[in-house]
Amino acid sequence: MMARIMAIANQKGGVGKTTTALTLGAALVERGQRVLLVDLDPQGSLTSAAGVEPNELTETVYTAIAHYLKENEARDLAPLLRSLRLNLDLLPASIDLAVAEMELQNAVRREYVLTEVLAPAEGAYDVVLIDCPPSLSLLTVNALTAAGEVLIPLVPEYLAARGLGLLLDSIGRMRKAKLNPRLRIAGVILTMVDARTTHGRETAESIRRHLDGQVAVLGEVKRSIKASEAAAAGLPVTDYAARSDTALAYGQIADVVLAMARAPGAPRAPGMATAPAEVTRG
Ligand SMILES: Nc1ncnc2c1ncn2[C@@H]1O[C@H](COP(=O)(O)OP(=O)(O)OP(=O)(O)O)[C@@H](O)[C@H]1O
Ligand SMILES: [Mg+2]
Repeated sequence: MMARIMAIANQKGGVGKTTTALTLGAALVERGQRVLLVDLDPQGSLTSAAGVEPNELTETVYTAIAHYLKENEARDLAPLLRSLRLNLDLLPASIDLAVAEMELQNAVRREYVLTEVLAPAEGAYDVVLIDCPPSLSLLTVNALTAAGEVLIPLVPEYLAARGLGLLLDSIGRMRKAKLNPRLRIAGVILTMVDARTTHGRETAESIRRHLDGQVAVLGEVKRSIKASEAAAAGLPVTDYAARSDTALAYGQIADVVLAMARAPGAPRAPGMATAPAEVTRG
């Protein structure tokens, strides 16, 4: 069985990509999945949120990319991985990944380097989650080429829909360019929803209406101090505050993600609303 590879992407910064990668990863492990987290952001935020200090690392995802660029052959990833717990591994990143971005520009089949780099590890996992940087850079393109699905965290706010449009356009262009014709949009996760105010609830509702029939909404995570406290503690919120709204919301999203994998005949081509209606309306 090859792993299900999901890119967590949104070119907008601070929308919860990294939080989603770590928390959804931990929630999937609780549901019996073997999960690999890939930090593809030179900021190394996923690495630090997982409790690993990026500045102290000598071997990272960059080591694997550089090896591939030099030898034109993927190396064993096992020595580069950090085990966060049973069945949850991290391929960490640090600032040297910014160099990879430049080196990739001149590479042969430069959009497929990450696909090649991850291939040796795929058999060992059920799910691979790739945390993308907040840009549509070549690193993000590599993630979207390696992935079978893309998950989009989105903060419901003014103009959020326009930013999403840009992302969907570039995914559409990647499909047309045949970079990854099988890439499927798993859906949007509404994050940092302000449920305490009428304005917050109305904004979330209007984004849902806007997305209706276009992209599935897999779930909703409310704004909560627990999320940032957990990141500072270097723990997924499912551990830091297992009974919090945030942990429960990500647990439900993990259930939806697993149900989507089991759903028969999920469309692979441009059709976007892929999950069954009762699942998407959560
Ligand atoms: N549901 C939430 N409620 C409150 N704060 C949150 C929530 N989710 C994430 N945060 C906090 O918001 C900040 C941004 O989240 P995160 O780093 O996950 O976003 P990102 O999209 O990965 O950012 P970047 O684009 O910089 O990579 C972090 O400090 C995080 O702890
Ligand atoms: Mg991030």
